Amino acid sequence: MSEHVSVTVRAPAKLNLHLGVGAPRPDGFHPLDTVYHAIGIYDDVTVAPAAEFRVIFETADYVDGQALPGRGDNIVDRAAALLTAAAGLPRQPGADVRIRKDIPVAGGMAGGSADGAAALVALDRLWRLETPDEEMLRLAAELGSDVPFALYGGTAHGTGRGELVEPVDDQGSWWWVIVTSTEGLSTPAVYRRWDELYPDASLTPLSGLAVLEAIASGNPLALARAMHNDLEAAAFDLRPDLERRVARGEAAGALRGMITGSGPTCVFLCGGAAEAREVAGELRAEGAAVLVASGPVAGAHLVRGW
Ligand code: C5P
Repeated sequence: MSEHVSVTVRAPAKLNLHLGVGAPRPDGFHPLDTVYHAIGIYDDVTVAPAAEFRVIFETADYVDGQALPGRGDNIVDRAAALLTAAAGLPRQPGADVRIRKDIPVAGGMAGGSADGAAALVALDRLWRLETPDEEMLRLAAELGSDVPFALYGGTAHGTGRGELVEPVDDQGSWWWVIVTSTEGLSTPAVYRRWDELYPDASLTPLSGLAVLEAIASGNPLALARAMHNDLEAAAFDLRPDLERRVARGEAAGALRGMITGSGPTCVFLCGGAAEAREVAGELRAEGAAVLVASGPVAGAHLVRGW
């Protein structure tokens, strides 16, 4: 166990199989009733001892590196500062942080949240803080609404502003085609458009019960029927090309197409791995990348190091 060994933590992208949105709360956040689902597209955060704190990004060819937040104000910097404060350290220790991004930026797949969750776990190890689990969840919620789910992974019911996460039993193996966009959509912008479209929205978000029942049935046709995203109309309004893309995927044989989160990533549920590969082939010319992945997969986990 040398001091010079690096630690790599891997965290998955998420889909929202259900996203019910309520009218904004006094703090500006929207109450959510959502079903999260972690799929096999990952970011890897590798940390190593260093005198200074430094973050370097390395992106897959379809990921827009220009869209990443700059030095000092990205979610990994905030994760490091929160961990330091929670541990009561007098100053933040150094670390060389390398982030390999395969999850699209501003795609609605919680790529930033995955990096935040992975950074919490990796830096906690590197700095030997042994932060208790409940404290990690609290720090994750402070980092962002989707960050606690990135720690859990699997399939889960999310409430509050998305940060209250209850894992659900998911024995299924669901196959997805993911179509990314060259240009991201800003989450706050999509929520603002939703506010304009639904000024009389109920305070109580639409329940995800139908999707939870479909998950329990293990039947892709049932899940295809139940999937729902309240933000879809707002995302389509900002990006009309997405509606056509969803229709093309369904025409190509997907059981159901939808945007995930606030978009613009489109996701297509398929009957199995072979069907997913076929749909992906048909959609090859669409978007920045067409990926095939299955879920559920584990949340942030150690893949290398001590
Ligand atoms: O929590 P997170 O930092 O991911 O949220 C990003 C932005 O998305 C918020 O500042 C807010 O504008 C919007 N949001 C929201 N309601 C939620 C989650 C996010 O309005 N439940």
